[in-house]
Amino acid sequence: MKRGFGTNFHKVYKENADLYHIFSVSEVFSKELKDRIKSKLTGGILLDIACGTCHKTNFYSKYFDKVFALDFSKPLLEYARKKYVDNDKINYIWSSAAKIPLLDESVDNILITWGSFPPSKTIREMQRVLKSGGGIVRIGAFKKDDFTTLFPDYSQKRINSINNIFRKFGFTIEPQIVDINFKNNTEAKKILSKITGAKAIKINKFKFEHTVALCYYTK
Ligand SMILES: C[S@@+](CC[C@H](N)C(=O)[O-])C[C@H]1O[C@@H](n2cnc3c(N)ncnc32)[C@H](O)[C@@H]1O
Repeated sequence: MKRGFGTNFHKVYKENADLYHIFSVSEVFSKELKDRIKSKLTGGILLDIACGTCHKTNFYSKYFDKVFALDFSKPLLEYARKKYVDNDKINYIWSSAAKIPLLDESVDNILITWGSFPPSKTIREMQRVLKSGGGIVRIGAFKKDDFTTLFPDYSQKRINSINNIFRKFGFTIEPQIVDINFKNNTEAKKILSKITGAKAIKINKFKFEHTVALCYYTK
């Protein structure tokens, strides 16, 4: 099975950071979901793992004194650095999530939205750098819906097995709805056909209701 369920995400990170950013911004968290996420965050120091172009990092930074934004894609980090140049709370880290270059028990909260990598290794790293009493919030895939149907190799079995690994490490998982809102059909066709590889002709709407897994953990 290809990475990212057969999509072109990694090619897009490399060649079209601006296009990925539009995709990231199209994901809209409801007020209820934002409040739910915030209720799991304590403030202090945040580590955003797989931050991408930092749309969410920038939003959540207001609740923290300092933020580490970690990603292994140089082009996405470069894009974020320019885009959020005025946000002096954000410290960029070019690294794999499997080996976080931070000290043990050095961050209060960790956010991880749509990072897909070997979970067990990454969870152990997150637990290592998290302070006692600190919390992790993750947003990931939950079930097949109108949106994930566009992903050529989406596998419910694989998603269930990833979510079960998080449960095994003590995470609670609850379904939540997010909206994927593009500006219009033209934008949806352009971005989604590039990222998912789906034929533009098959994409005939620009708003999707997407069920995600909100996962949280306290150390
Ligand atoms: C779908 S994007 C999510 C970006 C951002 N969190 C958001 O919600 O828009 C996935 C991100 O994970 C990063 N990534 C994937 N595997 C990684 C790894 N092993 N270590 C660090 N970053 C990784 C990619 O470079 C990409 O920025």
